[in-house]
Amino acid sequence: MVKPQQTASAIIFGVFLTLLAPFIALQLDHLRYHWRLASNDVVGGKAMVVSAHGLASEVGRDVLAAGGNAFDAAIAVHFALAVVYQQAGNIGGGGFMVYRLADGQTGALDFREKAPIAAYRDMYLDADGNVIKGASLRGHLAVGVPGAVAGMVAAHEKFGSRSWPELIAPAIELAREGFEMSPKGARMFNRYQADFRALNNYEPRVLRPDGWTPGDIARFPALADTLARIAENGRDGFYKGPTARMIVTEMEAGGGMITQADLDAYQPVWRDPVTFSYRDHEITSMPPPSSGGVALAQLLKGAEAYNVRRMGHNSAAHIHMMVELERRAYADRASYLGDPDFVPVPVARLTSDAYIAGRMAAIRSWEKTDSKTVREGHVDRVESVETTHISIVDAAGNAVSLTTTLNGNFGAKVVVKDAGFFLNNEMDDFAIKPDHANQFGLLGNAQNAVAPQKRMLSSMTPTIVTKDGDLRLVVGTPGGATIITTVFQTIMNVVDFGMTAQQSVNARKVHSQWQPDLVMLERGTLSVPSMIGLMRRGHKLYAWPRFKYELGRVEAVLIDADRTRLGAADYTRGEDDRALGF
Ligand code: GLY
Repeated sequence: MVKPQQTASAIIFGVFLTLLAPFIALQLDHLRYHWRLASNDVVGGKAMVVSAHGLASEVGRDVLAAGGNAFDAAIAVHFALAVVYQQAGNIGGGGFMVYRLADGQTGALDFREKAPIAAYRDMYLDADGNVIKGASLRGHLAVGVPGAVAGMVAAHEKFGSRSWPELIAPAIELAREGFEMSPKGARMFNRYQADFRALNNYEPRVLRPDGWTPGDIARFPALADTLARIAENGRDGFYKGPTARMIVTEMEAGGGMITQADLDAYQPVWRDPVTFSYRDHEITSMPPPSSGGVALAQLLKGAEAYNVRRMGHNSAAHIHMMVELERRAYADRASYLGDPDFVPVPVARLTSDAYIAGRMAAIRSWEKTDSKTVREGHVDRVESVETTHISIVDAAGNAVSLTTTLNGNFGAKVVVKDAGFFLNNEMDDFAIKPDHANQFGLLGNAQNAVAPQKRMLSSMTPTIVTKDGDLRLVVGTPGGATIITTVFQTIMNVVDFGMTAQQSVNARKVHSQWQPDLVMLERGTLSVPSMIGLMRRGHKLYAWPRFKYELGRVEAVLIDADRTRLGAADYTRGEDDRALGF
């Protein structure tokens, strides 16, 4: 017979277990994540390409194997992604490239979109000064003048070693002959079918009455024809002639602003990269109009003051330090950064040791800073994000780090009739109203206000790391506002925690951006002691489901001491992403 004492003990034990259950579940999640942190770098003795789609990586590898250089491969992969990865790969968007030649020269190419000539500061506000919901995100008015094709032409003119048509031929073949739709590709196309229908006044090819099924052979003949015109006529194949007429007609039909004059005026810009050191490494990253390089410099230089390795990866102390630095970097981003061709951007001051030390003086190790005391702002919930990154190292040691985007998934969801490609919705990256958060929750002011032919501020952070003058890491990622913090953590993973390429990519990332005043992460990222340590310091944790699928998908190449290229794509979040070397 059970004694009353035994019953009482069983009840107490049961209550104890029930109270403990959520903590046990969280800790088990965390352990599961650690088991996934295996290192399985793709090893390439000579060259490596990492991109968001295996078919595009194959194109890049073939170009490299045929003797093409990293720039040739990047151009070919960029056009291939415009076919097989249409949610972000593009000819109707723009991006940034950071490069390092084998002889150590570095540089940066800005092929970011621009506001149309007819654009004006309050174009997304109604008569009462309120934001017109969705106007900067969906449809023709959201589209910036595309820079991707001009950017690829500029890269080819300066560094290409293979013929231009040869580099576009694989993309034309993929679009014309077709490719097998992956489960992720089908899922993405299906998710936006209603938008494609609503925002196009005809039936674009991406629409399917019964949706897409994995394994479908996807053919895009109009896109193939557009790519063929680009292959034949270079820049003029896009910015003049039939393609340009189709873009302008599309704009007229849908109430957009882009005219032939906009297309004629578009020019990419070679810029001096942001360069700085982190411990015994040298970092080269993207300058404005991306905020990426400046913010990354602030974060890494700030982190240099701490013994990050001793703190322990993703410990409470480590994350607290990151979040406090990020709070300040993102506040600066909102106040000071914009298109340097239009507004003065104090890059040198923002990245100087003295300025960063001053900003850090108020950081306390035991307590978070309230973001309101750094600067106030109001933020809506963050929506969809999509960008894509390519990391390439060739046999000679040239490195290309290239991030490109349509902004949201499939950009404005508008497909240019008869030309078969998506247009970006990059205009939302402007501060369309002071202190109105964009789709990433990012704030801004007059520095990043809309103006004719101005470039909208970006977070894209294509980056190259060297050590003692030798190439060490080529890295970048999609993820909107999280791009900067993800690159920040990946570099610490390699430099401070000694992770391999794949470990640094797989390692779960944590994101914070001043406003909203939250620490965003994927469930299972932190151990229970880390979570408790952060909450004791006053941080609010937010398990952000989007992290699992869309954010922090790093594409990286790490170079070993013996110059072996170790490629790592994020298979855990990316599905189609792939590193290929030889
Ligand atoms: N469209 C995202 C970015 O440029 O940051």
